[in-house]
Amino acid sequence: MKCVTIGTVRSNQKVADQIFLATIEVPDIARQCLPGQFVNIYFSGSVKLFPRPFSIASVSGKSILILYKVIGSQTTLMSRWQIGHQVKLLGPLGNNFTISENKSIKYVLLAGGVGAAPLMFFRDELVKENIKPHFFIGAKTKSELPIIEDDKSDLIVTTDDGSKGLKGTVIEHFEDFLKNIRHSISLNVCGPEPMMSALKNISFPDNVTINVSLEKTIACGLGLCQGCAVKNTTDKFKGHYALVCKDGPVFNLKDIEFDE
Ligand SMILES: Cc1cc2nc3c(=O)[nH]c(=O)nc-3n(C[C@H](O)[C@H](O)[C@H](O)COP(=O)(O)OP(=O)(O)OC[C@H]3O[C@@H](n4cnc5c(N)ncnc54)[C@H](O)[C@@H]3O)c2cc1C
Ligand code: FES
Repeated sequence: MKCVTIGTVRSNQKVADQIFLATIEVPDIARQCLPGQFVNIYFSGSVKLFPRPFSIASVSGKSILILYKVIGSQTTLMSRWQIGHQVKLLGPLGNNFTISENKSIKYVLLAGGVGAAPLMFFRDELVKENIKPHFFIGAKTKSELPIIEDDKSDLIVTTDDGSKGLKGTVIEHFEDFLKNIRHSISLNVCGPEPMMSALKNISFPDNVTINVSLEKTIACGLGLCQGCAVKNTTDKFKGHYALVCKDGPVFNLKDIEFDE
């Protein structure tokens, strides 16, 4: 049984337009978390009492890193966190991205905006195994890119307006890359739902396994409220929905049906 624990903000820096990177010292979570897992952050005095879920973007000693975009009330509060601020967290929650035992597999990470967060953590784990992944990261424009340089991966940056890196969507450039691939690939993806739906329209060769980290509104985070249900076509979920907080957030893309 997981319990809410208290973390301490050690840094909280703006890294791009409306995007921040926070370091939270929380040894219990830092010790055991895996790439793809997330934490629920609780805000006292909030009008909406639900916690907010955030992927763990990396681990540094006793701390976890959270890469977040300011989009509403609670992420605005987070952007004002000062060093020493105490944070209530529950985690690590959910499942994780995995490294295959097949050593010949190549890893590709595909991120839209702050969807880079769980993939940064996965990249760190791959690097520990001496694997350098291809890391595609896309945004509408340069100021929305959370990463522009990375010596731990072969980074491919795209922007819709061409203000940084390759011009066009990250999916378009990934499709070009895919045309020249002959070996088996583990593709690991996190981004907004339209990007995930676009992936569904690509006809992938059989040697590509696609793991996607999904975002849904999370309430309890423990599989109790059914608020984060997604359609999953595997036998395991026959007659009921899969839950992003408990069964995910990482799923095989071929098993997921997105709402039209
Ligand atoms: C498993 C999981 C991991 C996540 N990891 C990260 C992360 O690492 N970094 C990060 O920045 N965000 C992440 N998110 C999304 C994050 O939880 C939301 O952005 C956050 O809850 C917004 O809180 P808020 O109070 O600022 O916005 P709210 O006031 O709750 O919402 C403001 C507006 O944004 C919309 N909105 C809320 N959530 C989302 C969403 N997920 N996508 C698009 N629009 C939304 C609302 O409908 C509303 O219109 C993750 C979500 C999930 C489910
Ligand atoms: S958030 Fe309650 S079941 Fe997933």
